[in-house]
Amino acid sequence: MLQPIKGTRDLLFDECRKHRHVERVASLVAGRYGFDEIETPILESAGLFLRGLGDTSDIVSKEMYRFTDAGGDDLVLRPEGTAGVARAFISEGLQQHLPLKLFYRGPMFRRERPQKGRYRQFYQFGIELLGVEKPQADLEVLACGYRILKELGVLGSVKLHLNTIGDHESRAAYREKLVQYLSGRKGELSKDSIDRLERNPLRILDSKDPGDIKVVADAPALKDSLTPAAREFFDAVVAGLEVMKIPYEVDPKLVRGLDYYCHTVFEYTTDALGAQNAVLAGGRYDGLIKDLGGPVTPGVGWAFGVDRLAHLLAAVPEKPRAVAIIPVGDGADAAAVEWAEKLRTAGFTVELGYSGNLAKRMKRADKIGAGAALILGPEELARGVVQIKELATGAQREVAFDQVIATVKTFNL
Ligand code: HAM
Repeated sequence: MLQPIKGTRDLLFDECRKHRHVERVASLVAGRYGFDEIETPILESAGLFLRGLGDTSDIVSKEMYRFTDAGGDDLVLRPEGTAGVARAFISEGLQQHLPLKLFYRGPMFRRERPQKGRYRQFYQFGIELLGVEKPQADLEVLACGYRILKELGVLGSVKLHLNTIGDHESRAAYREKLVQYLSGRKGELSKDSIDRLERNPLRILDSKDPGDIKVVADAPALKDSLTPAAREFFDAVVAGLEVMKIPYEVDPKLVRGLDYYCHTVFEYTTDALGAQNAVLAGGRYDGLIKDLGGPVTPGVGWAFGVDRLAHLLAAVPEKPRAVAIIPVGDGADAAAVEWAEKLRTAGFTVELGYSGNLAKRMKRADKIGAGAALILGPEELARGVVQIKELATGAQREVAFDQVIATVKTFNL
């Protein structure tokens, strides 16, 4: 039997409706914050991610769907959206549009071990604010994220963790101290962390390995290596969150898994999804566009997993109840199609019964949760009337053609 590929799934019914609801609310809110939509290709060249995300990141080192196509091009199914937006900024020559505020959504691909809330094809919604080097931009994207979570009604199950990883100078100084400390306790580190010691020691800070956690507990703090400018930047972000009354917790061990970050990094986490606790995550990336060969352009943004937020929704968004059209006898079929179109033009959701006698079609109307049935009998049609039944109460009445729409409107479907 044909099955979907491991880690991918078909989105159906309630689950699909939840995804669309999350995306719709997020797009509307992002629009209110002045973000415009961008859609970049799912296929990008492998080089984009190798240069953009860093070859020691988990994504690049082991999770990319990378292949050579028939023409010999080295391609990747995008694992995230920020690099694609940065690439589009360069390829489309968007400098004259700065500052630029963009949002995007769509499927991303990572070959991770599938589990609840973690898929190989998953969906992200993200925003990127390009061209503003001040902390106001960080606050604007944080505020937009907070507002989306609020409007989705999930603030009660998430928590914002915030940190700074400083500027280049701060990180270089810290890296030296950290490597010195960790080298002294190398014997206690996990194999992964020993591998990272030379190439990407900061990542050891957020290792989940119990041995690593013990070692990291006594590690020097990044905040003690911050330059005055980096400290001032972070203080401004924190002060802004206080002003906006956005709850947060400073988490000195939060470093994020992608190489392009600097200064502010943050993650909204939840306890509701088992091990997959990050729902919305991001930060500042002032060097990314330059590293990809573009002009020096600061950026800050985040992305959330649509799948994960959909899991957190308390209820399935309601869909409008339909009007079921029930022709009685073959002679009424043409009138059924005509009435279906009239009601749809007036904005109602309409279902045609397709086949069967009156009882069978009424049963189907119940099954699909219709709110009303329009019963079209040949004798009534000849008199210019139809029967309308409100399914919640069972009340049925005869209504003249010109009163049908007005009557259905009173049902609050
Ligand atoms: P990320 O932390 O790799 O960041 O992913 C962002 C979010 O995507 C995660 O918090 C999670 O909700 C969701 N996600 C990631 N992997 C999976 C998966 N396998 N299954 C389901 N959901 C997943 C980024 O991608 C950055 N581009 C975010 C960003 C935008 N930074 C700046 N701008």
